[in-house]
Amino acid sequence: MTTGHNVHLLPQTDQLRAIHTIIRDRDCTRENFLFYSRRVIRLLLEGGMDLLPFTKKQVTTPVGATFHGLEFASKLCAVPVIRAGEAMESELRDVHPGIRIGKILIQRDRRTKLPHLYYKHLPDDIADRYVLLLEPMLATAGSALAAVDVLLESGVREDRIIMINFLSSPEGLRRVATERPRVKIVTSAIEDRLNEQAFMVPGIGDFGDRFFGTT
Ligand code: PRP
Repeated sequence: MTTGHNVHLLPQTDQLRAIHTIIRDRDCTRENFLFYSRRVIRLLLEGGMDLLPFTKKQVTTPVGATFHGLEFASKLCAVPVIRAGEAMESELRDVHPGIRIGKILIQRDRRTKLPHLYYKHLPDDIADRYVLLLEPMLATAGSALAAVDVLLESGVREDRIIMINFLSSPEGLRRVATERPRVKIVTSAIEDRLNEQAFMVPGIGDFGDRFFGTT
């Protein structure tokens, strides 16, 4: 599929494919699932932070020379969509220890697959911040778009939302691109399609269940 300009697919290296091969296997142990999915999460978070704005900064190196560098130029926060989004929190704290974290709890109705917002708690000044929206699965995109709506209602600018997403469906990406074209998405894989149960194929199953051991 051709990805829109706001879809940032991680480089599809053999190493990434080997990691996906481990974690997509239905017989993968939970220990391996945690270990290898966290490696991908780390890459996704680094990819998301690459999309933030930077300003010029000079420093003097130990040999007395000037290095013409850059520094982060924005206020940032992260908002995991509970529950699966919380799987990304420990890697997030590794790359950005002091980051402000909000929460949005959205669950899909088991039958209709429609998202329902149960809870939100966001930083007071979120409207001034860039937001890493942690949502590992983009299937129908219903949950992700509901989470984006919560952020927009809180005053976040659409072009300041960077969705950190593990697996995405072509349908979900198209829907986000149509309804919220300025939202950026970083993902590690784009699947073939959705099945009748709105699961991605070939997919990874229920990411939250596998990560938190509730299968
Ligand atoms: C899963 C997943 C996403 C959502 C994706 O959540 O974590 O939030 O479904 O599907 P969609 O794009 O069709 O909305 P679920 O409601 O199963 O809860 P979980 O986070 O506890 O796994």
